[in-house]
Amino acid sequence: MTHKRRILSGMRPTGPLHLGNLHGALLNWVDMQDDYDCFFFIADWHALTSDYEDPGRISGFIRELMIDWLSVGLTPEKSTLFVQSLVKEHAELFLLLSMITPVPWLERNPTYKDQLVQLDSKDLSTFGFLGYPVLQAADIIIYKAHGVPVGVDQVPHVEITREIARRFNYLYGEVFPEPKEMLTATPKILGMDRRKMSKSYHNAIFLKDGTDEIAAKVSRMITDPQRKRRSDPGDPGVCNVFEFHKIYTEPEKVAEIDPACRSAEIGCVECKQIMADRLANALAPIREKRRYYEARPELVEEIITAGSDCARDTARKTIEEVRQVVGLE
Ligand code: TRP
Ligand code: SF4
Repeated sequence: MTHKRRILSGMRPTGPLHLGNLHGALLNWVDMQDDYDCFFFIADWHALTSDYEDPGRISGFIRELMIDWLSVGLTPEKSTLFVQSLVKEHAELFLLLSMITPVPWLERNPTYKDQLVQLDSKDLSTFGFLGYPVLQAADIIIYKAHGVPVGVDQVPHVEITREIARRFNYLYGEVFPEPKEMLTATPKILGMDRRKMSKSYHNAIFLKDGTDEIAAKVSRMITDPQRKRRSDPGDPGVCNVFEFHKIYTEPEKVAEIDPACRSAEIGCVECKQIMADRLANALAPIREKRRYYEARPELVEEIITAGSDCARDTARKTIEEVRQVVGLE
């Protein structure tokens, strides 16, 4: 029996993970495994809300995402790792919550309005897409999670979750704790083009990239935009390559590079080679673990099944309680 506080978070299976995901979320999750009762899941139904026209790729993405997770150190020995659609209880709670959620709460959701604009190539005028936060609320409260480690973009969804939980408790009796978002400071990782790192911008370095791909991508990174020629002094303070150095290169070396850049003693080509080398070294053990799991698809399958069975046991208890207070027994 564990007395640790329960936390829960999820990711949609939309493609391979990159360094932005690693530093923005995943490493944080890995650390939390020792301090919390952790539930981490793959939100495949949520992926369908926007990719319903092309669902064929999702099952491959699920396996890939689980392999990425296991490769960076999420482990079924410490956490419950599972797939949303394997725990149908989420869908039942989603349905019941949809009865009590006022539509204006959803229409006001800033993430919803943003995405309608950003993904204007897709028809998102669906009931499922509007209801995205209701499903997310079900994901969270069905495990009675206290904390939800997420990025700032997800805070509105956790707020809606609290409102829905409060409304449920008010109508039917205290069943759900109100969960809180857990934000952690993370290093600023930008893509090769200095925009936010994102798959869709084609500016990402992926966890599964090999040494050559890393070197090629790093060589294309935009450095200090003011530094046009090798003889121009640079400013590490505005250089994305330097941000990577601060994460991946030994501090003594970083302390040398800073003045050498400012005095144009070191050029960007050399500087990038040093960084690419450290980055490739840091990702090597992750890639090695990835190869291990790629060679063992049955093991990955087993981890997903066992984790989902375990999640279902907990979800079922909550659903029984919910049916009882709502009067649906
Ligand atoms: N909406 C989240 C995202 O896009 C994924 C998600 C689904 C989630 N359900 C969740 C995150 C529950 C935290 C808790 O990143
Ligand atoms: Fe950036 Fe290094 Fe070039 Fe300086 S030398 S601008 S830190 S890449």
